[in-house]
Amino acid sequence: MTQEELFKVLVAHCKEYGFIFPSSEIYDGLAAVYDYGQLGVELKNNIKRYWWEAMTRLNENVVGIDSCVFMHPKVWVASGHVAAFNDPLIDNKDSKKRYRADVLIEDYLAKIEEKMNKEVAKGKKRFGEAFDEAQFRATNPNILREKAKYDEVHSRYVAAEESNDLKALKQIIEDCEIVCPISGTKNWTDVRQFNLMFSTAISNTGESDDKIYLRPETAQGIFVDYLNVQKTGRMKIPFGIAQIGKAFRNEIVARQFIFRMREFEQMEMEFFVRPGTEMEWFKKWKETRLKWHVNLGMGAENYRFHDHEKLAHYANAATDIEFNFPFGFKELEGIHSRTDFDLSNHAKLSGRKIQYFDSETGESYTPYCVETSIGLDRMFLAVLSHSYKVEELENGESRVVLSIPAPLAPIKVAVLPLLKKNGLPELAQEVVNELKYDFAYQYDEKDSIGRRYRRQDAIGTPFCVTVDMESLEDHCVTVRDRDTMEQVRVPIAELHAMIDKKVNMSNLLRNL
Ligand code: GAP
Repeated sequence: MTQEELFKVLVAHCKEYGFIFPSSEIYDGLAAVYDYGQLGVELKNNIKRYWWEAMTRLNENVVGIDSCVFMHPKVWVASGHVAAFNDPLIDNKDSKKRYRADVLIEDYLAKIEEKMNKEVAKGKKRFGEAFDEAQFRATNPNILREKAKYDEVHSRYVAAEESNDLKALKQIIEDCEIVCPISGTKNWTDVRQFNLMFSTAISNTGESDDKIYLRPETAQGIFVDYLNVQKTGRMKIPFGIAQIGKAFRNEIVARQFIFRMREFEQMEMEFFVRPGTEMEWFKKWKETRLKWHVNLGMGAENYRFHDHEKLAHYANAATDIEFNFPFGFKELEGIHSRTDFDLSNHAKLSGRKIQYFDSETGESYTPYCVETSIGLDRMFLAVLSHSYKVEELENGESRVVLSIPAPLAPIKVAVLPLLKKNGLPELAQEVVNELKYDFAYQYDEKDSIGRRYRRQDAIGTPFCVTVDMESLEDHCVTVRDRDTMEQVRVPIAELHAMIDKKVNMSNLLRNL
């Protein structure tokens, strides 16, 4: 199965097992908007808990808030979003489809890279053991030709992006003869800027047009509450404010499932520091956040940093933590050193003094800020795409298993009476009563035990507990491990401790 096919299968699996549904599906859905189903919400809540507790419990100087989606319209003027939160868009006149000009060019560049990689793969096949990839890339005429093309387009693209030159973007699209994937034509409009914020109306802001925005990031809620939290929490710099919440963006390139949505959730933390120390903290938070990811056991090789060449208007350093999704390494989390941009601009526009008074030195200053910002939905996709496996079994059958890190698994244990009679359901209910206060569980008495195991594998349940006739005598049950499929006999009295050891979130947090 190619990675692309695997991704399609994963999307179907998410729907079939109640993880994710297209929003308003009975009306044919709404592009780039998805609902989380009965298992999806459990997994999502577990990811949130892992993040929230790592941030606010393991760091004495980080506290959490929950600010609103609606904010005063001036917030988005101060933050720069009204003026600069834009994507360059282009329309194809024949298909009437709209595209992001930068994405069309990036896709074109990705295709050239793919061609070069195919050439390398052919070389590897031809030369076998003796193959020297570096030398092949430096000498193969086909690769050299493609590389020259790539470098030329890439440098023009970077220059156009840096100078915000929309005409130059259009020129690249024309020169590269990029066609619309729907109509197949090169009949393009000019490139225009398009603001990504959704707006609605409210009747009591005092602004003439009453227009307000749905927040495109949760961070601004933290900045405008900075003074309240610092004062009421008696917070001393350095300190952080964390928040989990919805954000909204009118994304034009809405594809790749929950990777790029119009309504999504962010987990953001703004860490306020003394000016001049921000690079130290930037480095520290990069390390801390990578450790948080790797701690889940999904393979250190599946993460990498990608430092930004072009910095956002508010940043003096920025990096992404990229994850190896089925469609390649892509941004999962952003870490930005945002300077004093946000607090200073809010101070200017609100007319309030937003500063920190250092009682030890007697100085007042506007703190600098280091931000960590991760998309909850992207994290969900990272966990699911990494966990989805089709395994061949010894008996010639195959199974689909989600090897979700156990503390994040939506259901921790399934309790399965072998028969629907002879007192087994009653004993199984006793087992449920032992476990249900601490673990999300499913009780299942339908179908053969093999089919019940398969159902639990497909939703990533770490333990299946089978109650059989012997259990009535010896008060022991059979516990099957999701990953190894090994079965052990365990006294019911020891079941809780056994499950807890593997699924308890605090063990995961302890390793950080
Ligand atoms: N406050 C900084 C900020 O919002 P960003 O890089 O635009 O920075 C942060 O977004 C994270 O939010 C990204 O790394 C990504 O995980 C997630 N994200 C951004 N846009 C998204 C979208 N349309 N759908 C899903 N997740 C998104």
